[in-house]
Amino acid sequence: MSIGVLDSGVGGLSVLREVRRTLPGEHVVYVADSAHAPYGDRDAAFIDARVSAIADLLVAHGAKAIVVACNTATGVAVDGLRQRLHLPVVAIEPAVKPAAQMTKTGRIGVLATSRTLASDRFRGLVTTHAAGVDVLEQACPGLVERVEAGDFSSPETRALVEGYVGPLRDAGVDVIVLGCTHFPFLAPLITEVAGPGVAIIDPSAAVARELARRLDSAGLASPRAHGGDETFLTTGDPALVAPVVSHVWGSPVQVSTARV
Ligand code: DGL
Repeated sequence: MSIGVLDSGVGGLSVLREVRRTLPGEHVVYVADSAHAPYGDRDAAFIDARVSAIADLLVAHGAKAIVVACNTATGVAVDGLRQRLHLPVVAIEPAVKPAAQMTKTGRIGVLATSRTLASDRFRGLVTTHAAGVDVLEQACPGLVERVEAGDFSSPETRALVEGYVGPLRDAGVDVIVLGCTHFPFLAPLITEVAGPGVAIIDPSAAVARELARRLDSAGLASPRAHGGDETFLTTGDPALVAPVVSHVWGSPVQVSTARV
């Protein structure tokens, strides 16, 4: 049995590395829907159908739990998955609540895809957890594509980050939420542009801890303390995706085709 993890592309690897740290004995199957990335500007029905089909593939691969490692997918597809699948579904979403609790200036920034920011789920997070806090929402077109290309620091990427993070910094936010799983790979650049005194929040570790809790309470945790391995699948071209996954993962990995 394995943990199934999905994202539109390589972004979910930022969640997977925390899952690996927290649960070193678990086998993990990761699906990057690279043929359809980015999800951020697509319509909700399309994303919902993709996520549903990938989740079914992960179940067919022996998933005992699913991690939706994509804020955009959570925003539109997680409720349907939870209704349909009879296994733990753990999902990432923008860390608005901790950011609202942490801010001293009363102003926070959220970097996410347009689709996430437009979702009812995100609106609900802001209404429920950030009353009285100024939430500056920043969509980031083009940034996911840079990460998918394995480009974390070129002048082009830097210019995009400056264009998205600079206005938040200038508006006086003291907390920035990374509301897209691709963005932790740009955290050094985001931190540099945001400047000192701005906290950057990535909820990946919290997602991994939640997964551990859910596995424990469902009696599904692996008895192994270490030795878990990873299977990487993509709907795109493995020859193009493997170098980026290897770079992000920190060691050469094999990536195979996911037919979904
Ligand atoms: N990594 C995803 C997220 O967390 C999706 C980005 C995209 O494909 O647009 O939102």
